[in-house]
Amino acid sequence: MKDVKSLMSFETVHAPRAYVNASVRMHHVFTLEQRMKAALAAGWNVFQFPSEMLQGGDLLSDSGTTTLTAEQLAAMFLGDEAYGSNYGYFQLLNSFEQTFGIPLDEMEVFLFHQGRAAEHALFRFISRGGSNLVIPSNGHFDTTHANIEDSGMTAVNLFDHHLRQAEDYPFKGNMDVRALEVLLKKNAENIPMVFLTITNNTGGGQPVSLENIEQTRKICNRHDKPLFLDACRFAENAWFIQQREKKYSKMKISKIVHRMFSLCDGFTISLKKDGLSNMGGALVIRKNSRLLSKYKTLLNDIRDHQILVEGHPTYGGMSGRDIMVVAEGLKTVVQEQYLKSRVTQVERFGEYLRKLGIPVMAPFGGHAVYIDVDKFFAGTKMKKEDFGGISLTGLLLLKGVRLCELGAFAFGKYDPVKKTEHSPQNNFVRCAVPRNKYEIEDLFYVADCIKELYERKKNIPKAIPVYGRDLSLRHFKARFRLE
Ligand code: F0G
Repeated sequence: MKDVKSLMSFETVHAPRAYVNASVRMHHVFTLEQRMKAALAAGWNVFQFPSEMLQGGDLLSDSGTTTLTAEQLAAMFLGDEAYGSNYGYFQLLNSFEQTFGIPLDEMEVFLFHQGRAAEHALFRFISRGGSNLVIPSNGHFDTTHANIEDSGMTAVNLFDHHLRQAEDYPFKGNMDVRALEVLLKKNAENIPMVFLTITNNTGGGQPVSLENIEQTRKICNRHDKPLFLDACRFAENAWFIQQREKKYSKMKISKIVHRMFSLCDGFTISLKKDGLSNMGGALVIRKNSRLLSKYKTLLNDIRDHQILVEGHPTYGGMSGRDIMVVAEGLKTVVQEQYLKSRVTQVERFGEYLRKLGIPVMAPFGGHAVYIDVDKFFAGTKMKKEDFGGISLTGLLLLKGVRLCELGAFAFGKYDPVKKTEHSPQNNFVRCAVPRNKYEIEDLFYVADCIKELYERKKNIPKAIPVYGRDLSLRHFKARFRLE
């Protein structure tokens, strides 16, 4: 451990600016020794590291980490905590109608405490429609993937081939529509629905073009399949459509969003992202969706499930306060001024990292900058199965910085019989930027720390899993030794 201490004893150009987190607690700056002790106790698993020690910047997730706006805080106090049909519920339905452009009487809205609970409810009943069912996507998020497979179906990712290429392709999040067509021709009866994740979190936070959504819709129509969106970051995706797809450069964000949602049969959403909320999720199904001609009791089944595990349908798993926050957040998130400052902050952070020579995926995603771990460790002895991404995120904890490995460890699989690792296509460390929380100087400090480690990359130790290598969803639970 002496080596790790000397490896991490460096000064940076920008200093950590803990005071922007306006909490007395955050003024206490921890020492390298204190953080080392905590990191060892956490088994170098970033999820287990105490957040109060992260004065350098907590970029673990953009989910639920939003700072609420003054309007949202004010709205919270106007809500009520009635058991049925609280005031916020009606506000929320109106916001859904206005933001997504789907008339209220044409959609069934199910509220949940967060996105994965909505996915779980949907897939639980979809899986009952046959055997060997497959759900294709441009990129399922890890919990979405896990929910599909947990219900006995297979999740398939059809990433666009541009994703792994270095050039600045504007819509690397797209669905590989050719592969989708092939899959549907071969396997149509086993595919109950098609999913599109906007933006594509597993695929570098990259956006999906409206053209690609339209093409996917057409293919779905040809094969009589419903199209669902995983809409967590719909507004950021709409921003990229306006900026990068010529045809829509003059269209207002709110109109682009309406166009996107006019093409789907329904959607799941974690409101902890573009809902600008700390909690909340939803499943929306159009009442005229072709899904319902096959799954005739689906709406009632989901209502029952919701009542059993979340609460009355008029609050789902959310408090009246949370609901008011979302109702307000959905209005803010489609405002061009907000989106511009949000996405350009992520872009400036990415540009700075690139200027420092860090291999990052470009163009930058809407909510995060993704470090290419394979390129980061190029020229060193670090192999994919040494989990360099875990070492990198572990060591940064010592500087009060938290990132998230989304690569060889998070998406890989261990075969305990053959004692081999199956590595995924993408090997990233993600720097996710919480909404309305940090100043650009905070992000520069994070970048400086990454650069210092990049210069010392030959000395970065391997991460050896000491617990949980063979578990499902192992990145949340595993522990490591760095050596
Ligand atoms: N879909 C996508 C694309 C997501 O990014 C997430 C969560 C979910 C679904 C699940 O939503 O957390 O509310 O249950 N992503 C977070 C992240 C956790 O850090 O990227 P949830």
